[in-house]
Amino acid sequence: MHLRHLTPGEPEIILQVASRMRSTLVEVLGEERGQSLYSLDWLRDRVLFHIESGRVLLAEDEGELLGHCMLRVEGELGLYATSYVRPESRRSGVAQALISAGEVWFKSRGVRHLATDTALGNTKLIRLFEARGFVVVHSTEQMLRLQKPLSL
Ligand SMILES: CC(C)(COP(=O)(O)OP(=O)(O)OC[C@H]1O[C@@H](n2cnc3c(N)ncnc32)[C@H](O)[C@@H]1OP(=O)(O)O)[C@@H](O)C(=O)NCCC(=O)NCCS
Repeated sequence: MHLRHLTPGEPEIILQVASRMRSTLVEVLGEERGQSLYSLDWLRDRVLFHIESGRVLLAEDEGELLGHCMLRVEGELGLYATSYVRPESRRSGVAQALISAGEVWFKSRGVRHLATDTALGNTKLIRLFEARGFVVVHSTEQMLRLQKPLSL
């Protein structure tokens, strides 16, 4: 597996990441809501926004996209905006590797805390971040935020 960051001159991969953002929404929110919430154009713009103002990390193997993770900085907070690993590559440490690489990037940006938001029932993601020392700091009826201080 090889990790790198996505650049603006890779339209096909940008589209692939956008469509995997939609797969994330479908997996977390269900088929109907996940498909209809955002257009593919909107999702592609979101990927571009994260390339330009944050970081989009890719995990690849022989040119195949295994997973991605989108990062952005909001004040003193480093936010993992979305993390996705294709089903056939799961439980082999791909997300762990992406999150670790994200931490390195966030450290270089001088943030004080790391956080991610997800749906209340997203056990896979919650376990993944809890295993890395994140704790739930806020929750509503549908969403929760996991956060941890970033030791510099
Ligand atoms: C959440 C997700 C990114 C994890 O990716 P992954 O590459 O399989 O994760 P890893 O192999 O790095 O797993 C690391 C740890 O996360 C936890 N974890 C991952 N999948 C889990 C599952 N199905 N059940 C419980 N814990 C899980 C475990 O602690 C695991 O460590 P272990 O395998 O040693 O037990 C992946 O399941 C995914 O893409 N899910 C759908 C998209 C999604 O919900 N994204 C977040 C939206 S906010």
